[in-house]
Amino acid sequence: MSTPLNSTGPSTTPHPAEPAGAPACPVTGATAAQGATPLYGPGLDGDMLPALYEQLRAAHGPVAPVSIAPGIDAWLVLGHRELLQLTRDEQDFSHDPRRWTLLREGRVPADSPLLPMVGWRPALLFTDGQQHRRMRTAVSDALSGINGHELRRQVRDTAEHLISAFTARGEADLVADYARLLPLQVITGLLGLDKDTGRALVEAIAQTVSATAASADASKRMGAILLQLIDEKRRRPGPDITSALLHHPARLTDEEVLHNLVVMFVAGNQTTVNWIATSLRILLCDPAFRSSLSGGHMTVDDALDLVLWKFPPTQNFPARYATRDMTFGGQPVRTGDMLILGLAAANADPRILPAAGRPVVGNRSHLAFSAGPHTCPAQDPARLITRTAVDTIRHRLPDMELSVPEAELEWIKSPWSRGLAALPVHFGAISRP
Ligand code: HEM
Repeated sequence: MSTPLNSTGPSTTPHPAEPAGAPACPVTGATAAQGATPLYGPGLDGDMLPALYEQLRAAHGPVAPVSIAPGIDAWLVLGHRELLQLTRDEQDFSHDPRRWTLLREGRVPADSPLLPMVGWRPALLFTDGQQHRRMRTAVSDALSGINGHELRRQVRDTAEHLISAFTARGEADLVADYARLLPLQVITGLLGLDKDTGRALVEAIAQTVSATAASADASKRMGAILLQLIDEKRRRPGPDITSALLHHPARLTDEEVLHNLVVMFVAGNQTTVNWIATSLRILLCDPAFRSSLSGGHMTVDDALDLVLWKFPPTQNFPARYATRDMTFGGQPVRTGDMLILGLAAANADPRILPAAGRPVVGNRSHLAFSAGPHTCPAQDPARLITRTAVDTIRHRLPDMELSVPEAELEWIKSPWSRGLAALPVHFGAISRP
């Protein structure tokens, strides 16, 4: 494994990190510090990212220097074994962004679009050890209190409703008309919000994390909606996640409940959108799945697993922060450096893939949900939502077909999220009312 030690790591890079004449990345078009490959830029092309991960692996080994914004460098962890170590070892790798050197030194601009994603909140995603376990128990218990039958019914009803809105047209974009709408309606329902307030919350959260001029106001609106929900559920608990968090023996404060609700919403929405749409793409396009499904060998769950292996809905996840100087994956990692979880790259690590290259059906050792104490606590409800959404539309529109050649489908331009920009389909008389 080649692990050159002469590459510039995050904390050793001078700021600002763009020396004159730094070469532009062929994939993203961005320039970055010498040695750190940019994962951002005007030309960021979702299709090219898997090839970029392999170039990084070949050049640097399982941990590679990247930059995620101008002047913001980090380590991308590409190796499956190294990613397990990163996620399991809380002593060496903290979840708390207040340890991040670039943030502590004021080198992350206040309006950086990264901050809504990695800025500290009093929520489980940003804590370690005892403090994390306290909130995690409350969140996990609230999630396991979800009634599966009821959730399936809610997803099916929401799906039927969305499908009815476009069946007469004979065509739809399954991203814009279906996958993007379904999880947010279901998740706001799980939190205990009615439809209109749910919609208002969705808009406020989207604007808050957009890092635009509207963000500050939107953040206040989001806080007001959630505080009102918390107030209501304290007085009149219902069969929902908010009530379960508020009345959990872990005794979360209202502020902690609020921020954990935001984390659940943000962590669960786009990921589930991506999982639904990419699974539908596989069922529509992959001849092995089309024929196997009708022949009964492959299940929808197999398609869902294939997505988690090959197109994990979160391809890279920020972040962990080194708590000490160390050599990790052959690289000189310094205290306070940011490390990014390269979930897609770790799944494609040649050291763990079967020789044929295609992951074995039924094998769930992928890292799409990460691992260790912070592994996604919502794997079961997320799968249930995704499976039901996929099943419902397949049964309602049995003759749907892709409207463009598969090669024309595009991925969204993001180094974090792996999802389709659009999935245009058409269907005939069998599916119309
Ligand atoms: C109903 C849908 C979902 C909800 C409510 C949800 C909720 C959460 C929460 C609360 C966390 C933080 C856990 C912690 O820090 O202890 C988390 C982490 C995470 N979730 Fe989910 N999630 C959902 C769906 C998904 C899906 C579909 C994926 C991708 C397949 C996913 C991938 C992840 C990943 C990669 C993490 C990061 C774990 C880490 O920091 O190591 N989640 N999720």
